[in-house]
Amino acid sequence: MKLAVIGTGYVGLVSGTCFADSGNDVTCVDIDEQKVAQLREGNIPIYEPGLEPIFKRCRREERLSFTTDMDRAVREADIVFLCLPTPPGGDGQADLSAVMTVAGQLGPLLDDYTVIVNKSTVPVGTANRVRKAVGQQADEELFDVVSNPEFLREGAAVDDFMKPERVVIGTDSDRAADLMTTLYEPFVRSGNPIIVMDPRSSELTKYAANAMLATKITFMNEIANICERVGANVDNVRRGIGTDSRIGKRFLFAGIGYGGSCFPKDVQAIHHTASEHGYDFKIVDSVMKVNESQKTSIVRKMENYFGTADFSGKTFGMWGLSFKPETDDIREAPALYIAEELVKQGAKLLAYDPEAIGTFKQATSQQVLDNTTFVHKQEEALDNIDALVICTEWNEFRRPTVDNFNDVMKQPVIFDGRNLYDLERARKAGITYISVGRPRINESELATSE
Ligand SMILES: NC(=O)c1ccc[n+]([C@@H]2O[C@H](COP(=O)([O-])OP(=O)(O)OC[C@H]3O[C@@H](n4cnc5c(N)ncnc54)[C@H](O)[C@@H]3O)[C@@H](O)[C@H]2O)c1
Repeated sequence: MKLAVIGTGYVGLVSGTCFADSGNDVTCVDIDEQKVAQLREGNIPIYEPGLEPIFKRCRREERLSFTTDMDRAVREADIVFLCLPTPPGGDGQADLSAVMTVAGQLGPLLDDYTVIVNKSTVPVGTANRVRKAVGQQADEELFDVVSNPEFLREGAAVDDFMKPERVVIGTDSDRAADLMTTLYEPFVRSGNPIIVMDPRSSELTKYAANAMLATKITFMNEIANICERVGANVDNVRRGIGTDSRIGKRFLFAGIGYGGSCFPKDVQAIHHTASEHGYDFKIVDSVMKVNESQKTSIVRKMENYFGTADFSGKTFGMWGLSFKPETDDIREAPALYIAEELVKQGAKLLAYDPEAIGTFKQATSQQVLDNTTFVHKQEEALDNIDALVICTEWNEFRRPTVDNFNDVMKQPVIFDGRNLYDLERARKAGITYISVGRPRINESELATSE
């Protein structure tokens, strides 16, 4: 099939490349001329493991092209995917301006029957709005609008796209459902379902999935906060409940809160949709509030440890800036908030991340930039620091470091927002180790010996 993918970000680029790999002829469109030029030269602007070899193969076989010329791409396409940003608007509502702007341009470009697919995460009713916008300038027979939410996770996006646990297709049109099913069949050979439903349910499915996952994480973060107060260990509680198949083992790891480009905005957006329809969605309201304070809970622990909120004269190492490992995406990353607070409280930072230094620099404040030295090796962030703060669970941070901190740090004090290390090893290594929802290790000994 001939596909046009409008919006070549994390979702558009991965979807476009994977669709091209399964034999389709894909044109990716973006308004960002620099991004398009870079992609044409064969350079991928994001860090996404596993994408490059497929991208290169599809480019070589001329099944994947990039352009700023939407008109031509759409005219030739059987299916047009909208993979456009839907950031939070002022009051938490999803900002649909990119989606609606593009929708308003599609009508005159439709010569033959075309399926227009919303892959962006959009509020309930958007498929209908897009249909009306396109229909103002095109015969209704010429197109259908389908909701096809995307569930890929950054960092594992290629695998998620190639082997989705399910594909959700929201449409009332049998013709569109058949075309979409044909397109997705190669991706579900192992028997995972393609679930066809009405567009409204499909749109809500995406928000419900993200709100449920954000709630699961937040629930465990609250259990961790209780563990800290009652002297329990969240790792044990996690194992104790995760073995119950009704609860499941995944997404039960406590930490410094969820971030990223999806959970925060989607939780806000579903809350907003509910309010608009006269429903107070109390659980997600609490999830948002808890996550807000969880992101900087580690700073409170540091204040407690140092006995002051004034960090003037202190330098902290920071490991991990991206919102999760295996991505350079720093949107809503806890590290942004933690850096901001630490610097406001007078600290200097030595920051390291394997992939996200560039994106972090673009997103953070001038005050953080002025007070942060970015280093290119994880050990360099340990140089002469008063404590290390771990914000992202990159695998390279797990390596035997826990036994070595004592040799390479003047004061081996670690605040771990991601529970990377075994408590017993930390105890034996003699480091002060303060993590999330677990007993503090060697805290009093070192605090009093200072
Ligand atoms: N990133 C994820 O992990 C993920 C996962 C599932 C769903 N989603 C959803 O997918 C959508 C896209 O997310 P993303 O992370 O890929 O966004 P992104 O910001 O990485 O990419 C969006 C792209 O659209 C381009 N664009 C903006 N306006 C345009 C226009 N008028 N014409 C052409 N291109 C335009 C931008 O230049 C950018 O390259 C969002 O709704 C998001 O919620 C994202």
